[in-house]
Amino acid sequence: MSEHTTLNVDLGERSYPIYIGQNLLDQADILKKHIPGNSALIVSNETVAPLYLKKVEALLSGIRYESVILPDGEQYKNLEVLNTIFDSLLTHRMDRNTTIIALGGGVVGDMAGFAAASYQRGVHLIQIPTTLLSQVDSSVGGKTGVNHPLGKNMIGAFYQPRAVIADTSTLNTLDDRQLSAGLAEVIKYGLIKDAGFFDWIDQNMNALLKRDPQALAYAIEVSCQTKADVVAADEKESGQRALLNLGHTFGHAIETGMGYGEWLHGEAVGAGMCMAAKMSALLGWLDETQVQKTIAIMQHAKLPTTAPDSMDEQQFLDLMSVDKKVIDGVLRLVLLKNIGDAVVTKDYTQEQLAKTIRISYAT
Ligand code: NAD
Ligand code: GLY
Repeated sequence: MSEHTTLNVDLGERSYPIYIGQNLLDQADILKKHIPGNSALIVSNETVAPLYLKKVEALLSGIRYESVILPDGEQYKNLEVLNTIFDSLLTHRMDRNTTIIALGGGVVGDMAGFAAASYQRGVHLIQIPTTLLSQVDSSVGGKTGVNHPLGKNMIGAFYQPRAVIADTSTLNTLDDRQLSAGLAEVIKYGLIKDAGFFDWIDQNMNALLKRDPQALAYAIEVSCQTKADVVAADEKESGQRALLNLGHTFGHAIETGMGYGEWLHGEAVGAGMCMAAKMSALLGWLDETQVQKTIAIMQHAKLPTTAPDSMDEQQFLDLMSVDKKVIDGVLRLVLLKNIGDAVVTKDYTQEQLAKTIRISYAT
C-alpha cells in the first residue's frame, strides 16, 4: 500500500476526490470504488497504452471493460477522432451506467471527458492523468472538449469526473519537453494567486526538473488544491475561474496559428504568460523587475518566452478575437497586477494589445 494525499473538489453532490501519490495504479480499491456499474471503456492513446493500459486493466477484475486507443497528438483532438470513441461505445453496447476511464495526458482527458459528457447524454467519468500538465490542471475541474481548425477548445462541455487518480510514478516515463510544458501550468498558479508558491517554484526549479519525487508531489498538491478551490467557487467560469487562463489567450493563438501540435500547450502558455506580463507592464501594473522575474522562471523551466516569428501581429489579433473570453465582441484578458495577483480586464486599448505582440518577438 503506497502513501497518498487526497484532496477534494467541493461541488456539493458532485464533489469528488483527487488522489495524488506514487504507484496508485497498483491499487485496485481506489479505482474500483468509483465505478458504479459493471462496465467501463478505457480511453488511451498509442503512446500511453503500451506503458500503462495493462496496469489499469488489471484493476478491473469483475468489470466488463473494453479499450479504445487514439492516435497521439494535439492534432487529433478533433470531432473525427472523438467519433471513434462513440463507435467503440456503441459497438460494445456500453449502456448509461458505463464508466469512461481517461488514461493519458490532457488530450486524452479532454476527449474522453467530452465523450462521457455526451454519450447517452452523460455517463460516468474517471480521470487517470499521466502527464504533469494533466495532473496539475486538465484532469481537474471538468473542462472537456476538442479543437476546431479555427479555434482551440471551441467545442466542449463542463463535465466533472467522479474521481481523479494522479499516479506520480507515471511521470518517470515522460520526456523532458513534456515535463517543462507541465511546469508552465504550475508556474501559472503561483503567478495568479500565490507569490509564496511562485518563489518556492523558483527556488526548487532544479529539483523539479530532476523529478525529485518530493518536490513534484508538493508542486502537484499545491496546484491541485488551488485549482480545486477555484473550481469549487466558480465551476462554470462566470468569474474567478477565468484567472486560470493567464497566458492562454496568447497561447491558444500560438497553438492554432502554428498548427496544433507544433508548440506544446504548456510551451504556448509559457510564452503567453510572458506576453501577459509585458502587457501588464505596459498598463503600468507590473514593474520591469517583475516582468524579468516572470521571463526568468520560464527560461529556468526551459519554456519559450517569446512569440513565434512566423506569426505576424494581424494573425495574433485575428486568432485572439475568437477566444472564449470574448463577450459581446469584447475580449477580456487575464493580466497581472502583481506576481500572485491576476485580474480579468477589458480596460486596455487595441494599440496596447498590438504593441504587446510587437515587443514580444525575439528579434
Ligand atoms: P498530451 O495529452 O498531448 O500529452 C503529452 C505527450 O505525452 C503525448 O505525446 C502523450 O502521449 C505523452 N504521454 C502522456 N503520458 C505519458 C507518460 N506517462 N509517459 C510518456 N509519455 C506520456 O498533452 P498534455 O500536456 O498532457 O495536455 C495538453 C492538452 O490539455 C491540451 O489539449 C490542452 O488544451 C488541454 N488542457 C485542458 C485543460 C482543462 O482544464 N481541461 C487544462 C489545461 C490543458
Ligand atoms: N485550465 C483552465 C480551467 O480549467 O479553467
